[in-house]
Amino acid sequence: MGSRFFLQALVLTALLPVIAYGKCDFPAIFNFGDSNSDTGGWHFAFPYQMLPDNAPYGRTFFGQPSYRYSDGRLSVDFLAQALGLPFISPFLQSVGSRFEQGANFAASGASVRPTSTDFNAPISLTVQLNQFKVFKQQVLDTISSHGSLNYLPSADSFKTGIYTIEIGGNDFDNAYRSLKLSPLQVKQTILPKLAKSVGGAVQELYNEGARTILVKDVGPQGCGPFWLTYFSHAPTDFDQHGCSISYNDAVQFYNTQLREQLSLVRKQLPGADIVYVSQYDIIYDFFANPSKYGFKATTQSCCGVGGKYNFTWAAQCGLTGPVNGKSVTVGSCSDPASYIIWDGIHLTDQANRVLTQQILGGKYFEPSTFSITSRCQTQPI
Ligand SMILES: *[C@@H]1O[C@H](CO)[C@@H](O)[C@H](O)[C@H]1NC(C)=O
Repeated sequence: MGSRFFLQALVLTALLPVIAYGKCDFPAIFNFGDSNSDTGGWHFAFPYQMLPDNAPYGRTFFGQPSYRYSDGRLSVDFLAQALGLPFISPFLQSVGSRFEQGANFAASGASVRPTSTDFNAPISLTVQLNQFKVFKQQVLDTISSHGSLNYLPSADSFKTGIYTIEIGGNDFDNAYRSLKLSPLQVKQTILPKLAKSVGGAVQELYNEGARTILVKDVGPQGCGPFWLTYFSHAPTDFDQHGCSISYNDAVQFYNTQLREQLSLVRKQLPGADIVYVSQYDIIYDFFANPSKYGFKATTQSCCGVGGKYNFTWAAQCGLTGPVNGKSVTVGSCSDPASYIIWDGIHLTDQANRVLTQQILGGKYFEPSTFSITSRCQTQPI
């Protein structure tokens, strides 16, 4: 009896702090990026101009449009849930935002390259970094004159928070669509500078105090209905999973350069975790082994219409547009969770969930010694 009680007490005291507090070293998330992680940034800057202002965006999780390019959550939302944090508010949302557990600077259409005449991307990575600096300075000034406030992050969380960057895809698209470059030309012209700029952004965040910075690479665009439909492909341009070889090759070329840039930056920034996240590999495996993850469709869009890939540029998800001479209002498939792709470009809620689970699993981090779960008792997602 006595020893059993002792044992139980021992087990309880060992487990209690973990159960009671759900220990997590990351008090906040600061995110930078494009539509893949935009939780309302673009909407609050330029309202009523983009697809996710309309149904059926948001149908699976929020039950209404939530300004996210998804039927529900994005990967950054699942990360917040896993870390036990609320969904992070967009920096540009003036009413109802709570920033104590982070802020989201991502905006749809954002590119690494700054706004120029050849394409339209007003809230580029540079703008987002500047917004972050202003935000941080305002928070620190407020804390020093009023003490900490319950809707602002603590000064410390700028150091201990987790920083995530996911950007680059639009730089490809703008080069393909506006500059009319081929994947090969894109490789030769814009890509080397791109990876350097992202490395520079990491350096800037470090200078601002960030010590845990995760940079996601660009996913396999060549498997996406938009890239498969909008651009012409030679019959020899398809791999065994129906993805475009040349468009994926351009992305992989860039990702290799990003890897190299981050390993250079890592050497120059001591005492920090500068982490490359190879989401390309995770997402490509969705297309290679869909049934392993419960997906039934691969290169077809859930919300879309027409053609081999269920995608028509002039009649995109939620819009009314011409398809074979008839006007069609484009709705959602009945089972988004069995699709990888929601709207021809972006992932479904379910694909974002599985992606985030795989990321947290730790196998796709470089360096491989980095781990989130050893520093945070994550919540199931
Ligand atoms: C294409 O999208 C429509 C919604 O417009 C959906 O009902 C249909 O199931 C999708 N088709 C395929 C082949 O995925």
